[in-house]
Amino acid sequence: MYICLCNGVSDKAIRQAVRQFRPQSFQQLRKFIPVGTQCGKCIRAAREIMQEELIQIPELKETA
Ligand code: FES
Repeated sequence: MYICLCNGVSDKAIRQAVRQFRPQSFQQLRKFIPVGTQCGKCIRAAREIMQEELIQIPELKETA
């Protein structure tokens, strides 16, 4: 499913970028994937997906 229509970024692409780069913030995520750089409507949904995915990462779960 597309999350960011402006840039054609899917939830899958966001999850993959989060797993690969482990961004500490949404700003950091945006360095790796062009999400929320145009109209900004997708930012909330993209941030939620990022959080969801971050808590799935086992090593991060232990330190949280
Ligand atoms: S939908 Fe993502 S910037 Fe517009």
